[in-house]
Order: sequence, then C-alpha cells, then structure tokens
Amino acid sequence: MQVIKYAFQQHGDERGQLVALEEFKDIPFKIKRVYYMYDTVQGVHRGLHAHRSLEQILICIHGSCKILMDNGIEKKIVSLEKPYEGLYISNDIWREMFDFSLDAVLLVLASEIYDENDYIRDYDEFISFVNAKK
Ligand code: TYD
Repeated sequence: MQVIKYAFQQHGDERGQLVALEEFKDIPFKIKRVYYMYDTVQGVHRGLHAHRSLEQILICIHGSCKILMDNGIEKKIVSLEKPYEGLYISNDIWREMFDFSLDAVLLVLASEIYDENDYIRDYDEFISFVNAKK
C-alpha cells in the first residue's frame, strides 16, 4: 500500500510559520468540507470506516496522533505530528485514528459534503467492497 504524505510549503519568517492550502494545487481535489477533532479522549479509536467515494487529507495541526490505514490486504500505521504534514486517504481505505495526544487537533479536508450513505462502517462490507473492485 502506497502511503502519500504531503509536506506542505511552510512560509516561515522571523514572525513564525504559515501554511496555505489551495485545492488542485496543494490538495489533489476540490475541498467541499473541512472538519476537525479535538479534546479526543485518551485511548479512543475514531474513524473505523471506509468510504464509497470520499477522498481526504488529514493534518494534525497541533499535537500528534496515529492513523491506521488498511486496504483489505495490508495495514500501515502512520504518525502525524507536524502541522505541515498531510496524509492522503483514498475512499477505499479502512481508517482508524488513535493515540491522540491531549492537545491534538486533527484537521480533515474532504472532497465531498457529509453523506452517511458514503460510509462503509462494517468491516466485512469493506472487504466485499474492495474485492468487488478487483
Ligand atoms: P463520526 O463519523 O462518528 O466520526 P469519526 O469518523 O471520527 O469516528 O462523526 C461524529 C458525529 O459527527 C456524527 O454524529 C456525525 C457527525 N458529523 C457531521 O455531522 N458532519 C461531518 O462532516 C462529520 C465528519 C461528522
């Protein structure tokens, strides 16, 4: 499984850092939705789903967390701990977010508006979904 991690351009100067993200330039899709998670309770796993078509970029803009990516065959764990790093997650990846630091803020850029029908929340259904695409 290919892990696509972006290192966004940092516009740093003596005042500090700034990162700017534009759709189709820094982000490979039209950004239709932005959401973020914070105050995540210790020990919690979030996510535990895949999508039928949604693409996302995850950025831990403060603190740190880990992302488990599972394509149905292989699993990888990616650490996010830099505010200028973005992890691309395609639709057909089962994802779990965990090991959030107390101060973690996980920002998500999404290619579609929220649609519960796009979620695959059952792991067996996810396996059938990826097998059907082969
Ligand atoms: P949920 O899907 O459980 O989050 P996670 O994937 O991190 O485990 O979402 C939590 C709640 O927020 C749930 O009631 C749905 C709602 N929600 C929205 O209303 N809009 C959104 O864009 C998202 C991602 C969630």
